[in-house]
Amino acid sequence: MIIAEPYRIKVVEPIKMTTKEYRKKVLEEAGYNLFLIKAEDVYIDLLTDSGTNAMSNYQWAGIMIGDESYAGCRNFFSLKETIKELFGFEYFLPTHQGRPAENILFMLTVKKGDYVPNNMHFDSTRAHVIDKGGIPVDLVIDDAYDMEKEHPFKGNMDTEKLEDFIKKVGRERIPLIMLTLTNNTGGGQPVSLSNIKEVKRIAEKYGIPLFFDAARFAENAFFIKEREEGYRDKSIKEIVLEMMSYADGFTMSCKKDGLVNIGGILAMRDRDLFERAKQLLILMEGFPTYGGLAGRDLEAISIGLREVIDEDYLRWRIYQVRYLGEKLKKAGIPICLPIGGHAVYVDIKRLLPHIPQSQFPDNSFATALYLEAGIRSAPLGSTAFSEKDKDTGKVRYPRLELVRLTIPRRVYTNSHMDYVAWAVEEIYRKRDKIKGLRIVYEPEIMRHFSARFEPLE
Ligand code: F0G
Repeated sequence: MIIAEPYRIKVVEPIKMTTKEYRKKVLEEAGYNLFLIKAEDVYIDLLTDSGTNAMSNYQWAGIMIGDESYAGCRNFFSLKETIKELFGFEYFLPTHQGRPAENILFMLTVKKGDYVPNNMHFDSTRAHVIDKGGIPVDLVIDDAYDMEKEHPFKGNMDTEKLEDFIKKVGRERIPLIMLTLTNNTGGGQPVSLSNIKEVKRIAEKYGIPLFFDAARFAENAFFIKEREEGYRDKSIKEIVLEMMSYADGFTMSCKKDGLVNIGGILAMRDRDLFERAKQLLILMEGFPTYGGLAGRDLEAISIGLREVIDEDYLRWRIYQVRYLGEKLKKAGIPICLPIGGHAVYVDIKRLLPHIPQSQFPDNSFATALYLEAGIRSAPLGSTAFSEKDKDTGKVRYPRLELVRLTIPRRVYTNSHMDYVAWAVEEIYRKRDKIKGLRIVYEPEIMRHFSARFEPLE
């Protein structure tokens, strides 16, 4: 069966076409760091699915009914109604994106020396836990680290490990447990409803609240419908509501499944926590009926959250990512399996085994792909995650060496995907000729955003 787009195109955005010579210059000027090139010089931008969504005509119409009153704007109440109906939550705060929601939540819950178990923390979540003196702990199932293992719910928490961990450190040192839906750091892999229920049972047994990092909640729900026993005949709306019924709260970057370009949500059931979070929101983001956003943004989120649970949309979305992944798989390119919800992750350790991690093989691949075809991808291996020990100078390399081909929602067509697949195959064909990189400038924090590299001879 062929699944095609459940929408048609009304507005187009021309993209600049460039030559290989031009891109070579761009790379040299940017020190071979794809964060430092102008977006204008990119043909297909697969850096992230965050904030890169195309909004619908209804969302743009919603922008026009933005009520920009300082307090009590109508769009806040529209969003409140949507959140109540879709997620069953009464208390929420709008934030300007996902991380301020994380910041406020952890400021109120995490003390120095506390542990926060998660299936896998996203970078900003990890950083915010550490910032409050906490210790992030990843307790995803072991299969998540095996790139080739086909498991329908590779984002699941290892519940045995979770309970052992709680017993070991004591429940008083665990202010909350989190689940990231879908697991972005581990390949965009879903968490099953039975796993959510089991995590909730354990959390309740020890009196620990359970929060979701719900950036990709709808994609997670689609996988449950597709793969989990007993959910085939349930609507996405029913599945989302059931998922959320087990959460005591959630943070959400609306830049993913909110189908908008900016926005976030912090929601909880505990009235007291909500009141305290409100004070911090006023301090850091803005008045509680707009948070860090304009009234029009709230309306676009309210509409986007309703559009994203449409099954025809979701089927197409997941299918498009799979379409690209299947093409690469057929061509023999090593990718993370099963194919996740928002991206195809190329396994660089298997693709460029001749380049050691000290020579940034993830960035070697990503810059080669840009040079070949103007495609920007996200190097998520030694470039982003290797750490130098301050005292010994010794470098620790990450376990996984991946490049993420992240697909923005409703933005590219499948002929763009054909082009991406062609370009990746070209690189694969020439893989033996690809060389490593040398770092020539290295800032102390968040190195990958501003480091500069040079190709090795
Ligand atoms: N949680 C998850 C699972 C995420 O993927 C992200 C962002 C955040 C939280 C933070 O949200 O960016 O709105 O502050 N992920 C983006 C990415 C940046 O490219 O995967 P934010």
